[in-house]
Amino acid sequence: MTTLRSVKGMKDYLPKEVPAYRRIEEAFARVMQRSGFREMRTPIVEPTALFVRAIGEVTDVVEKEMYSFQHHDEALTLRPEGTAGVVRAYLQNNLGNDEPVTKVFYQGAMFRAERTQRGRYRQFHQLGAEVFGDPSPAADADLLATLVVFLREIGVSSPEVILGSIGGKATRAAFRESLVDFLTPKLETMSEESKRRILTNPLRILDSKHPGDRAACEGAPSILDVLDADDQTHFDALRRYLDALAVPYRVDRGLVRGLDYYSRTLFEIKGATEKLGAGDTLLGGGRYDGLVEELGGRATPAIGFAAGLERLVIATEENVAPPRIDVFVASLGEGAVARALALSNELRSHGISVECDGRGASIKAQLRRANAVDARFAIVLGDREVSDGVAELKDLAARTAAPFPLAEMAAAAKAGLLRPPADADQAVSS
Ligand code: HAM
Repeated sequence: MTTLRSVKGMKDYLPKEVPAYRRIEEAFARVMQRSGFREMRTPIVEPTALFVRAIGEVTDVVEKEMYSFQHHDEALTLRPEGTAGVVRAYLQNNLGNDEPVTKVFYQGAMFRAERTQRGRYRQFHQLGAEVFGDPSPAADADLLATLVVFLREIGVSSPEVILGSIGGKATRAAFRESLVDFLTPKLETMSEESKRRILTNPLRILDSKHPGDRAACEGAPSILDVLDADDQTHFDALRRYLDALAVPYRVDRGLVRGLDYYSRTLFEIKGATEKLGAGDTLLGGGRYDGLVEELGGRATPAIGFAAGLERLVIATEENVAPPRIDVFVASLGEGAVARALALSNELRSHGISVECDGRGASIKAQLRRANAVDARFAIVLGDREVSDGVAELKDLAARTAAPFPLAEMAAAAKAGLLRPPADADQAVSS
């Protein structure tokens, strides 16, 4: 029989890796809560139409990367990103009625059928946040400052903030025309996809990876040159705020993002490039002032971002030690195993982590395991120890051992005193 393997591009997160993920998830929740965001969770499966409408029909994500399926009479999709679902939930649950400004963060699995490589998977996890109801450039600056704090807190030492603007509706319409004029004479050398997209969504051509498209786009006009007065005022104010906050950034005149819902501010943050290869963007985001209305709500300005958790782990690659086991209970003999189980549960109820070995292996083998799981203490219980009411307590780090009354263990644990008496200097023999 052939053994089954995981789906291509979907990886296992093994016990030795998970502490690094958890460290970042916890830092993210901490930093976002400190900036006034509250956590929310939305379903992994949403109606396909939600993503088509939010992300845009003529985008790589919608045209090529979604895991979509028909279930009875419903067309469903595994979410490729978090924003669309959060906007749907914001509208469906009238979150905007409670408070003029709603700030949420989320974490979870996303799915895109992309070509996989280091830092690019088909199931990956995003840490994201969205702010609804605040049109000000101050909201953009505050979000970016929070992001930089988060990245520094997890150990991305020099996050590179790349800033751009895609303008509002009017600016984009004007830019679209000048871009089409610029690209049309070069159509010959461009990809079939871009020849099609010049009619449907010419801005997408700017982020094509096709060499012919890249060459054709060289020298293309920058949307930053045609921002209307309001877009320009917004962009300039954001830059002044970032300067005042001492958030370093670089303006990228050609920055485009792969999703259609953006308006005005766009940003990406890169870091530790050499560790990530081609997929070195740690996070991306921007303003999407038209999306809430597009999905059926009142006109509501919004801004947000999402970071790839796997990329953050690669960029901050440190060996995060797994949590230690405090006490390893080794036991031999039927009565001793029963007492060991009871003792283990009692110690656990006082917040101590306990591994209880009831395999019936030799004490020597059990103590080998105690060392392998990096336990701090071992308690050795045989039938004689149970009848005497005194077990052997070994300090595995100090390599000492001493008798310890069983009846006093829980109280000692509760008081944080589970350690051999100071005069215990007997060397650990096994
Ligand atoms: P995005 O740029 O498509 O934006 O994705 C955000 C981040 O998710 C990327 O910068 C990257 O770190 C990570 N990511 C994307 N695809 C993959 C993949 N296949 N494997 C691993 N990591 C990946 C969004 O998704 C927007 N929803 C962000 C946003 C929120 N904009 C406004 N609000």
